[in-house]
Amino acid sequence: MRDIKENTSVLYENDEFQQFTEEALRPGGLELTRKALAIADFPVGSHLLDIGCGCGITVEFLAEEYGMEAWGIDISEELIAKAKARNKSLRVQVGDVYNLPYGSSSMDGVVMECVFTLFDNKPLALEQIRRVLKPGGQLIITDLYIRDNAQAFTQLPLVTCLNGITSQDVVCQEVSSAGFRLKEWHDETSVYKGFLAGLIMNYGSMSAFWESLVGSCEKACTVQQNIKKVKIGYYLSVWEKE
Ligand SMILES: C[S@@+](CC[C@H](N)C(=O)[O-])C[C@H]1O[C@@H](n2cnc3c(N)ncnc32)[C@H](O)[C@@H]1O
Repeated sequence: MRDIKENTSVLYENDEFQQFTEEALRPGGLELTRKALAIADFPVGSHLLDIGCGCGITVEFLAEEYGMEAWGIDISEELIAKAKARNKSLRVQVGDVYNLPYGSSSMDGVVMECVFTLFDNKPLALEQIRRVLKPGGQLIITDLYIRDNAQAFTQLPLVTCLNGITSQDVVCQEVSSAGFRLKEWHDETSVYKGFLAGLIMNYGSMSAFWESLVGSCEKACTVQQNIKKVKIGYYLSVWEKE
């Protein structure tokens, strides 16, 4: 596994964070997954792949509530072990988006919930996703984005979804130039605000949350100062392979 794994999954392997999110490691939980599925409208039995599946909550949901043939892959051995310990029938495995171990044109859909921003080589990730999708297959992306003042954002001293955030224009340019047509884009910032409110209630303050992750008050302060410079939002988007 690539060296970057250690940094990439540190937040998501954190026990307190997992308890807070009830193991759906992102804003919106399964309600947002439900909304995305209504837009994509996959028939029962479709083959769906959840990339960056974490603890496998969505894979389980797709299989058990929607009757889909669902697979999941994540770079974190710890999270995949957790998913299997919870439900050993889940088809989840350790692996990297840059080297997907699935056949070409084998999937009707790919789901990426709060993962895209973590990819340091988005064109390569999208090339792999396009390869495994059938013609006309759909890609669901929910993630953070910058709603305003994108140029002011600077890197954080910790790898989280926040590090790879860009504006809507940049996301659309990246995904469409990789051979996908935008079907729908929804701003879901209210969901992100609710998530932040929950973090504050759980940790006492945002400073305490960041400090629990980065280990020092000074680093937590740098994170917060960088985040304050931009307006962060959350989106749900559905794309079709062209
Ligand atoms: C914010 S969590 C979201 C987890 C899951 N989608 C969910 O909603 O609960 C991001 C996940 O992406 C995984 N990840 C990061 N980079 C990855 C990569 N290159 N390939 C596969 N998974 C990756 C992390 O290990 C982490 O579990």
